[in-house]
Amino acid sequence: MLKSLSLQNFRSYKKADFEFISKTTVIIGPNTSGKSNLIEAIFLLASGKSFRTDKDMQMISFGEAFGRVKAEAEDNELEIIVTNGQLNGKTSQFKKFLVNGVPKRRVDFVENFSAVLFSPEDLDIIVDSPSLRRRFLDNVLELVDREYRISTVAYSKALRQRNALLENKRETGIRNEKQFEYWDNLVIENGGIITKKREEFIEFVNNETKDIFDFVAYYDKSVISKQRLLQYKDAEVAAGVTLVGPHRDDFSVSMFNNSRSDIHDVKSFGSRGQQRLVILQLKMLELLFIEKKLGKRPVLLLDDIFSELDEGHIELILEMLGLQQTIITTTHREFIPESVLKKTQVIKFTKEDK
Ligand SMILES: Nc1ncnc2c1ncn2[C@@H]1O[C@H](COP(=O)(O)OP(=O)(O)OP(=O)(O)O)[C@@H](O)[C@H]1O
Ligand SMILES: [Mg+2]
Repeated sequence: MLKSLSLQNFRSYKKADFEFISKTTVIIGPNTSGKSNLIEAIFLLASGKSFRTDKDMQMISFGEAFGRVKAEAEDNELEIIVTNGQLNGKTSQFKKFLVNGVPKRRVDFVENFSAVLFSPEDLDIIVDSPSLRRRFLDNVLELVDREYRISTVAYSKALRQRNALLENKRETGIRNEKQFEYWDNLVIENGGIITKKREEFIEFVNNETKDIFDFVAYYDKSVISKQRLLQYKDAEVAAGVTLVGPHRDDFSVSMFNNSRSDIHDVKSFGSRGQQRLVILQLKMLELLFIEKKLGKRPVLLLDDIFSELDEGHIELILEMLGLQQTIITTTHREFIPESVLKKTQVIKFTKEDK
């Protein structure tokens, strides 16, 4: 459980402290009052990353040199400092992670606290580009699996280096076989781990009971191996980038017809409502997967989703509230039923708060 949170020079917050005193907290505030910034800070504590940007420095308040997020969770004091590469006049890492004051690597920091985010952008996972679906898989797996975290970092690095070699070959015609061999081995090794773990998650999704909406997920994997790299050797030089591997993965979702005798792709044939039910179901399975892997329910962060969902869908989410700590943000009090508000901690934001 997340008990308290302090922000310093984080996005719109110069300095702010929050305490979470009930299982559900509802944060009500107008646009730009800092709701998503707060959710971003909590998600950062769980994943070591922003859910909005790859550029960590954007999380530091304008004009400041560093930002700090501190929290009390699961009887640990967690702290992340985001810097612009300088701290107290010395070169510093861009992100520092501390547990009870002891510095940690991101891969080790992450499992101290876990949270699942559900934001309006998630509603497009099924219909939007494959990168969103890959990010979904990464978010789930990075939270529960240290080996996956290590492999994704190593894979990205090796992929960048390999792409630079391909670009170089395209421009100069020179192919440095020794260097290719080194980076090939790394992308194959780490890519294989990523593929295997993504496959396991998709298998979990397919094996679990789905009370909200029944579907089948298909993992459209882009396998990376010596043989496949050889097969794409010339095409890769022409393209200047690596053409196979988990960075090209995707998954699709199919739903059953009424008599369950046939299935159809949800992206192409599902109604908007059906696509949303798939997302709700996927999110619940995400929570369950993390619970199974870590032995505890992650905190659920709902950033402004009630304005996007109809009554039936909201009802499905409200049914989950007692199951784990939940932090909800909303622009309008009316989106949350009075019966829920009565039982929860309510924090009101105004624009002048910060
Ligand atoms: N690095 C930063 N430094 C200072 N302010 C920032 C920074 N990044 C974003 N902001 C500002 O923070 C403010 C609050 O943003 P936030 O996304 O938290 O609003 P919100 O309450 O979620 O609003 P909405 O209801 O529109 O989603 C915005 O005005 C935004 O411009
Ligand atoms: Mg917002």
